Amino acid sequence: MNILVIGGGGREHTIAWKIRQNPDVKNIYCIPGNAGIATIAECHNLNAGDFPTLAAFVEEKNIDFTIVGPEQPLVNGIVDFFRSRNYPIFGPNQEAAQMEGSKIFSKRLMAKYGIPTAAFAEFDDPAAAIGYLKSLPNQPIVVKADGLAAGKGSVVCKDTEGALTAVDEMMNQRIFDLAGSKIVIEECMTGEEVSLFILTDGSDYVALTPAQDFKRALDNDLGKNTGGMGSYSPTPFLTDELRRESIRKVVEPTLSALQSEGIDYTGVLYCGLMLTPNGPSVIEYNCRFGDPETQVVLPLLNSDLLEIAQAVERREVGKLKIDINPGHAASVVMASGGYPEKYETGKTITGLPENRDDLIVFHAGTKLIDDQIVTSGGRVLAVTALSRHNLKAATEKAYEALADIKFEDAHFRTDIARRAWHI
Ligand code: AMP
Ligand code: GLY
Repeated sequence: MNILVIGGGGREHTIAWKIRQNPDVKNIYCIPGNAGIATIAECHNLNAGDFPTLAAFVEEKNIDFTIVGPEQPLVNGIVDFFRSRNYPIFGPNQEAAQMEGSKIFSKRLMAKYGIPTAAFAEFDDPAAAIGYLKSLPNQPIVVKADGLAAGKGSVVCKDTEGALTAVDEMMNQRIFDLAGSKIVIEECMTGEEVSLFILTDGSDYVALTPAQDFKRALDNDLGKNTGGMGSYSPTPFLTDELRRESIRKVVEPTLSALQSEGIDYTGVLYCGLMLTPNGPSVIEYNCRFGDPETQVVLPLLNSDLLEIAQAVERREVGKLKIDINPGHAASVVMASGGYPEKYETGKTITGLPENRDDLIVFHAGTKLIDDQIVTSGGRVLAVTALSRHNLKAATEKAYEALADIKFEDAHFRTDIARRAWHI
């Protein structure tokens, strides 16, 4: 079989690495890929947003199945486009991808079907949003751009003044372009965050191991929000009881709500949950795998990813038996100094270890120049380690390997997974 993976980050390296384990897979192609992916797949620097170009590529390379990593092509309708040409593809169609593509869409769905989430109000007029904020007590509040904003569209504000600034930046200054023409203002929740990955064919589903990611740039959850500086799985914060409650109150009601609305959701439904004092509550849905959660969740999946993805596409998830590794995984992101703000690229990377069963360095922003691997993005590598024993051992193994990997101005957090070690 020939497989196409769309994307070029750590998530897509992990997907390609996992697919490579299937003996029926002949060629893996990746658009655009990176230096790590290029060791296991053929990378092509094409525009993943240009669907006709992708279709020509599928024809030329005899692609049998396509897996899409990032949200943007899904929200832009890549699945509808491929299906109209009978190209098998893993992911939700454009209508279903609105679960991530529009905060207002998903909040309305949750409100209509009684799925627990933060109380909210929606606005398309800045004056109304400002009036609403001024009518509330001065307290923490969250302002979210309705549309996709590369993971930066949610601003947790500590008071009314911060929220007014966020509204002005989104609606008047349009820092997220049209994504901020409509916004959601919602209650600020507290608790541990958990990422749940549900693979569904629209009626049946399987769940992968729950993960936690670390979004802030600096230790102790300080600094700016990033795409994610590290992750681990499974998370002890989601006890068996909370897991059952999350399935009963969020996952199953969400899937039946989608069915009731006549929305055909296939692929990954990523439920971002806050474990609040009142139980699990939805922060957001995403329509794809998380990054860097994939870097820990897929190494803990013993079952074949391609078989699962094909079962989703053929609507045979009910027949699947999923085999999960009972161990622990931790992943530490090495980023370019300055990320998530301005940073330099082109730094030579040295000291990369040979990948083993329990230690894999997934590449994100890397490229090959004259036989040298150099940095080419904000997040550069995700050093992932597994342990049969406990999370502490997995984390320490990742940090030990990371200590040998060098590039100028490398930045990483030193506390990934630590607060879960002794839960
Ligand atoms: P999102 O873009 O919805 O994933 O939000 C990004 C991050 O903002 C989340 O991972 C949370 O840390 C935080 N966040 C979003 N919504 C809320 C909320 N209602 N209460 C507290 N934190 C939130
Ligand atoms: N790690 C968060 C995300 O993938 O959106």
